[in-house]
Amino acid sequence: MAETYDLAIRGGRVVTPSGPAETSVGVRDGRIAAIGDIPAASAGEEIEAAGLTVLPGAIDTQVHFREPGAEHKEDLAHGSRAAVAGGVTAVFEMPNTNPPTVDAAALADKLERAGGMWCDHAFFAGADRDNHAALAELELLPGCCGVKVFMGSSTGGLLVDEDGALASVLASGRRRVAIHAEDEPRLVERRRLADEEGHARAHPVWRDVDSALLATRRVVGLAREANRPIHVLHVTTAEEIAFLGSAKDIATVECLPQHLTLEAPDCYERLGGYAQVNPPIRDARHRAGLWAGVVQGVVDVLGSDHAPHTREEKERRYPASPSGMPGVQTLLPLMLNHVAEGRLTLERLVDLLCYGPQRIYNIRGKGRIAVGYDADFTLVDLAARRAIGAADQHAKCGWTPFDGMETTGWPVATVVRGRVAMRDGELAAEPLGAPVRFWDTAA
Ligand code: DOR
Repeated sequence: MAETYDLAIRGGRVVTPSGPAETSVGVRDGRIAAIGDIPAASAGEEIEAAGLTVLPGAIDTQVHFREPGAEHKEDLAHGSRAAVAGGVTAVFEMPNTNPPTVDAAALADKLERAGGMWCDHAFFAGADRDNHAALAELELLPGCCGVKVFMGSSTGGLLVDEDGALASVLASGRRRVAIHAEDEPRLVERRRLADEEGHARAHPVWRDVDSALLATRRVVGLAREANRPIHVLHVTTAEEIAFLGSAKDIATVECLPQHLTLEAPDCYERLGGYAQVNPPIRDARHRAGLWAGVVQGVVDVLGSDHAPHTREEKERRYPASPSGMPGVQTLLPLMLNHVAEGRLTLERLVDLLCYGPQRIYNIRGKGRIAVGYDADFTLVDLAARRAIGAADQHAKCGWTPFDGMETTGWPVATVVRGRVAMRDGELAAEPLGAPVRFWDTAA
């Protein structure tokens, strides 16, 4: 009798660990059961993928979904719908909610709420002033992707800015620690520059190159002393890329599509506070430096840093306007467009969105198209060309800084553990997300 599958994806160009291949994939019980010839009529559900490229599901390792506490900006349902609409199959969500995710009760609360998510998920534990000793246990709880540290103030009150406190966080536990590297004393000292200008064009002046570089150097030094791996989030300067290229023994690196796509001064003149993110979008020299980091392998992953605020909040006079922009739905369209324009290969994009997250966070059973792995797929039409539209965004805030931008290469289907979460823009009727599993944690 022919093998039976729950789902067969036929005839696409499948990006396997051996490279792209014209082949089919069979899925059973949420896992990849076969790659190769799948006999006709042996599957309950079929996806005809001729002309499409089948990627491992994209994993966005940095999103802020704001629940609990700021659901007027975003929530887990809207954020995860935006994720699958944009071809993202799993997200790691940040702890600067209200209450912040700084103890086991807050983590358990998020995991319970996450039953209503459309994509798979894990949550960061935030380091605060008092919870250092508890982090070693907290980071090992099921559904936790690790510890996040804010070295500089951003949205919310989480902050660990002194070397002694950072060393104590790094001494507690052993998983990779994700770091927001901006130097708080320098930010405090320079804040008047933002107040004086009263326009977002001052953002990269206030939170300047040295604010980022100083913090990155400090935390790499402390990580080496503690022999604790770190992950430097949203790197924005050419100088940090050069420095982090000499720190691959201890630090992995994230860049964001907005820093690879937009540049100062244009973005601030065009978008005002809507272009304001921490750390800031900088000028063409830094953008080129980040691309050099992508091409040369210094950058390990891309995250969206999806961080919505309402229009009303973003239109306040700078610097009263909060920092952050939505991005989980535009991550793939923007990066596929960079592929189409020749800035990176599709294989490198898969490295940054699938293999990279798996490797640096020790994810179980995701990130590659291989037998036994979770059946997470992002199907893309590399030839499709259309404009990003604010009206198409599922994020609650209803805006995108990329509104009207024509891009080539679009996600057309998102499959999460064998279930179709998005196809041709239509989302599944029901949430189908589950916690991401890790080699380090108890489940
Ligand atoms: O721009 C940002 N927004 N950077 C951060 O570090 C936090 C984020 C937010 O939560 O709004």
